[in-house]
Amino acid sequence: MKFFVDTADVKEIRDLNDLGLLDGVTTNPSLILKSGGKIADVTREICEIVKGPVSAEVVATEYKDMMAEAKILARIADNVCIKVPLTLDGLRACKDIRSDGRMVNVTLCFSATQALLAAKAGASFISPFVGRIDDTGWDGMELISDIRTIYDNYDFQTEILTASVRTVNHVKQAALIGADVITAPPATLKALVKHPLTDKGLEQFLADWAKTGQKIG
Ligand code: E4P
Repeated sequence: MKFFVDTADVKEIRDLNDLGLLDGVTTNPSLILKSGGKIADVTREICEIVKGPVSAEVVATEYKDMMAEAKILARIADNVCIKVPLTLDGLRACKDIRSDGRMVNVTLCFSATQALLAAKAGASFISPFVGRIDDTGWDGMELISDIRTIYDNYDFQTEILTASVRTVNHVKQAALIGADVITAPPATLKALVKHPLTDKGLEQFLADWAKTGQKIG
């Protein structure tokens, strides 16, 4: 399973990349706003840190304008993955950007049939938003499971990028279902390492070691 971080915070990205945890990055207009930087500058900086796919989202809603924005974003770096919304214009743009040889992430997916359309448009990644589905009282992970079944039924190569991840349990469930990628905020990725018994065990070992009076080396 690949780990992407869902942020435009360059410092956080650098830290996680140094840990060896990152396979890619996803950004969106809200995250760019939060970063306080210009999309081109922030995306360029991220692409210099992380060699995997870095999603940068178009904000146009019509095909022609999306294609023009995609061209500008693609010039930033070779590993920019163009993010388009799951609309008819977005799907058309997906097909054409893919035929230019560029990665595409189709975002704002909330149903299995939307995911089917994205795969047929040749998307590199489909981003189902599990946390936002949970917020409505439905089960976001059920969508991941449905998409996995559909993609496997027809051998679609589109990677399932579990998005809007909020909890460690989302990551566990996505891995059990066989999602290809999760994208999560930095705090959620760091929380994956936490277990109270690890902390307790380490505390005990260090206390016992201190009693030995020894040093290693
Ligand atoms: C994914 O690419 C999106 O940027 C993201 O996961 C949305 O998450 P949110 O629902 O927490 O805003």
